[in-house]
Amino acid sequence: MHNAAIAALGLDWRYLAFDVRPEELRQAVAGAQVMRFIGLNLTLPHKLLAVDMMDELDESAREWGAVNTIRFEARKADGDWVPLAQLPPQEAAEIRRRGFNTDADALVRALQEDLACNFRGATVLVLGAGGAGRVAALRLAAEQVKRLFLVNRTPEKAKTVGAEIERRFPAVQVRVGYPDAAVDLIVNATSLGLRETDPVPMDERQFQLRKAGAVFDMIYQPAETPLLQAAKAAGCRVANGLGMLLYQGARALELWVGQAVPVHVMRKALEEQIYGSRQSR
Ligand SMILES: NC(=O)c1ccc[n+]([C@@H]2O[C@H](COP(=O)([O-])OP(=O)(O)OC[C@H]3O[C@@H](n4cnc5c(N)ncnc54)[C@H](OP(=O)(O)O)[C@@H]3O)[C@@H](O)[C@H]2O)c1
Repeated sequence: MHNAAIAALGLDWRYLAFDVRPEELRQAVAGAQVMRFIGLNLTLPHKLLAVDMMDELDESAREWGAVNTIRFEARKADGDWVPLAQLPPQEAAEIRRRGFNTDADALVRALQEDLACNFRGATVLVLGAGGAGRVAALRLAAEQVKRLFLVNRTPEKAKTVGAEIERRFPAVQVRVGYPDAAVDLIVNATSLGLRETDPVPMDERQFQLRKAGAVFDMIYQPAETPLLQAAKAAGCRVANGLGMLLYQGARALELWVGQAVPVHVMRKALEEQIYGSRQSR
């Protein structure tokens, strides 16, 4: 999706994937910096490790404790730092790394654009309390949802996330367990559903899908998980995680380029790459 947008923008850049061992991440980032890379995206476990390797942390990375986007920046003659791409190579003498997180905002954007969600005052059930579940719950709390219910196979992890929300967002009512009334939204942040034979990631005896207005599954492959199939049958609005993947990538590219990027081009490329000619959502 990045290369499609890069071509549409008329840039002579390339977006490439590298396998990097966690113990060699620091060297890899330093190597990219001296080779004048524009920036980097990181996947787990590098997102957490990179936090201590940045010269500057953007608010987004500080807030969520993870870096999924690094932007290399150059110092101008007047002392200001700008994205490396905005300075002619001969003028970019001093370079620093700035870490961002574009994942958390991407979830909110996907929920707004794909499911027309309004968060303020809403009741939300988050399934999963791993890396993605924790950030989803915290980010929704920051959007001023009213009530958050957290369910995880390992309840202690949901309790830890709940305690963090109580400390950081005291206005949000947070509880570990299934809701006792209807919810506006369910977010699946577990990995259950990656295989078509997986069960739905929630106990439908404890909470029935028909009591949910909308269901968002972070999984995008398969396009329709057992949870989304069941939610659709129950009459809920549904969306998979493709939008989330798209928007974190679009924001990263925007940070490197320093201007708006063609999101529709990126969506089309992503859908073709992941689903081939099949319809995605
Ligand atoms: N669309 C996107 O852009 C996007 C971005 C990030 C993540 N994701 C997706 O979100 C999911 C979670 O990612 P993550 O980074 O948070 O992974 P993670 O940190 O490994 O967390 C995995 C979560 O799934 C639960 N889980 C795993 N196997 C389970 C099972 N058999 N039964 C019940 N629960 C189970 C875990 O519960 P325990 O705590 O009990 O182990 C935990 O809550 C993945 O499917 C990932 O692909 C999508």
